[in-house]
Amino acid sequence: MALLTGSNKIHIAVFISGTGSNLKSLIKFSKLKKSPIMIKMIISNNYKAKGLQYADIYKIKKKVFDFKNTLSEKKVINELKKNDIHLICLAGFMKILSKSFIKNFKGKILNIHPSLLPKYKGLNTHERAINNKDKYSGCTVHFVNSKLDSGDIINQKKVRIKKLDNPKTLAKRILIQEHKLYPAAIIKALSL
Ligand code: GAR
Repeated sequence: MALLTGSNKIHIAVFISGTGSNLKSLIKFSKLKKSPIMIKMIISNNYKAKGLQYADIYKIKKKVFDFKNTLSEKKVINELKKNDIHLICLAGFMKILSKSFIKNFKGKILNIHPSLLPKYKGLNTHERAINNKDKYSGCTVHFVNSKLDSGDIINQKKVRIKKLDNPKTLAKRILIQEHKLYPAAIIKALSL
């Protein structure tokens, strides 16, 4: 990706829709002395997103947009350009970005997805993995392209599905792995 110039940190915008536990883990990662990233903005399509609290706690700029049409997306793009954002990290962002938005940030959008892609693109991944009696599920970080959950995979972590797992218990164990996987994926993506 070759975005690092000298000792400058990569400017990141994290997009969230809900709880924001991945956002929190990325903020923690950004605070490490040797971290290559700086989180400049948190963007959400949901003004009620719990994760927006981290903007206040950690004094990070936050903005909410409805992402409902191209005009709204244009406003997002302007905001990202204004803040000199180099990389977008989708972290539990539940809106599908338009092709033109993705084109604007080609190769510079990452997403974390709660399954072992290419298995279980889309929603209800844990339920589908359990119903299919899979032995493993997990999580994936990938580049975003114009097809849903289909861009190049950066890294993955397998998690064993236990006999008594339900979607909630499995989601909880996978989420713990997501928090480690995303920072590692960013480091890897920056070296590509
Ligand atoms: C995470 O499990 C993430 O992988 C998933 O939403 C959850 C958000 O949790 N993302 C998707 O399903 C995207 N299609 P968080 O808000 O606590 O980070």
